[in-house]
This record gives sequence, C-alpha cells and structure tokens, in this order.
Amino acid sequence: MSSGAVIGIVVAAVVVLAAVVFLTAARRTDVRGAGALSRETRRRDHATDVSLPEAPTGRDIENAAAAKRSAGTGVVKADELSPAPWIAPDPDAIGMSRRKFFNRAYISLMGLGIGGFAAASFVAFLWPSGKGGGFGGKVGAGKLDDILLNIRLNNGFFYLPEARTWITAYPPDAVPKAKKIYSSLLLPGMEAGLVALYQKCPHLGCRVPECKSSQWFECPCHGSQYNRVGEKKGGPAPRGMDRFLVSVSGTGDVTIDTLGGAALPGPAIGTNTTGQEAEGPHCITGGE
Ligand code: FES
Repeated sequence: MSSGAVIGIVVAAVVVLAAVVFLTAARRTDVRGAGALSRETRRRDHATDVSLPEAPTGRDIENAAAAKRSAGTGVVKADELSPAPWIAPDPDAIGMSRRKFFNRAYISLMGLGIGGFAAASFVAFLWPSGKGGGFGGKVGAGKLDDILLNIRLNNGFFYLPEARTWITAYPPDAVPKAKKIYSSLLLPGMEAGLVALYQKCPHLGCRVPECKSSQWFECPCHGSQYNRVGEKKGGPAPRGMDRFLVSVSGTGDVTIDTLGGAALPGPAIGTNTTGQEAEGPHCITGGE
C-alpha cells in the first residue's frame, strides 16, 4: 500500500473519530445524575399552584445580622492554642513514598519510551525515504561495468531485489532490430546494453526465475518461457516479459525506473530480436 493511501486512511479514521466524539458530547440527555428531576416532574411542579411562605429578603437578613452584632452576641473570642509539637516523620512511611516514586517514574519512563518508539516508527513508515528508491520508484543499480560483470559472473542473469527486476545484457548487434519494435522509452537502456525485466509473469503473475541451463526465463506455474531478454518463446503467456526503464548517467550509474510498479507491457508474441535459442536443457518442461 502506498504512503498516500496510508495517510488517507489515517486522516479518514481521525475524522470519523472526531465526528463520533462530537456527536456523543452534543447529544442531549435527560439523565442528569442522582437527585435530578425529570422533565415531566418539573412540568407538573410548574402546573401546580403551591403557596409557600414568603422568604425573607437579603436586606431583612442583613438587618437582622447588624442587630445581633450591636446586641454584642455575634462575636466569640477563640481559645488561645499553643503550637503543636514537632514529631519526626515515620522512616517506613518515607521509604514507602520513595518506593512509590521510583515505581511511578519507572512506569512513566517506560511508557514514554514505548510511545516515542511507536511514534518514530509511524513517522518513519510514512516519511518518503531519502533515496527515493524501492519498488515503485527509481532504484539505483550500481555502475554499468559492475552490472555487466555481475551478469557474466552469474551466468547471464543479475537480479535486483529492490526493483523486483531481472537485469540481463542486450546484444549490441540486435539494437537496429529493437529500434523497429520497442518503445523509444526502452531503447536507451538497450543501447547501453541492458534490459530490466519485471519478475512477474505476464500470464498469471508468478515470479519467473532464470534457467541457467537453457539461458531462458522459465515460469514454474504454467510453463511460459522467455528468452534472456524476455521475449516470449513458449507457454500460455500473452506476451513477453514486462519491463522497466533503464537509464545510464554520464558517470556510468545505472538507474531502474520501476514506474510506480506499472511495468511497460512486454513485446508481442513472435518478437525475436536476438534470435537466441535454448542453450541447454530446460528447467520447466511442457511449456512449449
Ligand atoms: S503464471 Fe507464469 S505461466 Fe502462468
């Protein structure tokens, strides 16, 4: 799931939560705690004519208090109190408080640590990585010379896991033919001597492994076969292997653009720009 989708889900969840809290707080209720009168009782009280004795006013109360003061009965002198003697605190009580303090400090620090770790992980998950790499973006594959060397050392195939891509060599003498067939977006990579093939089989999506004996790619699910540059040779696949863009900088750094995971469709059935036939036994039989 992309970072944008995750942010969208989080924002939607927060909005729904806020709406629930707001509606709950705003909801009127008749329950007001013990001793509260219901609406019906209050309406009945208003309707009943009850005659109560007239209550004294504030001025009456003030006048009564003043009269009482002037009669000399309002103020009573308090008894003289000697200061309470100092008693040393109980060391056990102090020890208990200290233990409580450390327990609480320990729990608080642990909570803070776990909360901080969770927050940092969440932010790191949403934050785009500085390299801009990873499947879906542009993935640095290293120097061109190193990649060609790795292809030779790995018997014809180089796998780049970050891009979920096989990188193989494209023969220079096949480039003129490729120019008549392939998209201009793919040609710069082929002219540099590389193709980047999406590992996912265009038939039903299994991961297609290399077959070092035949020097083809051979899908274990239903037996589709592709030559070393991903052109279909056999099996039920509807086309050759899908591919990503390869670019080589002036300093020889190779970048694979994985196009948000939407690889360019592989070449049509029958495309065979390299003329490469199987160079040994097949790893999967029955595809052709
Ligand atoms: S998924 Fe590869 S041949 Fe079917």
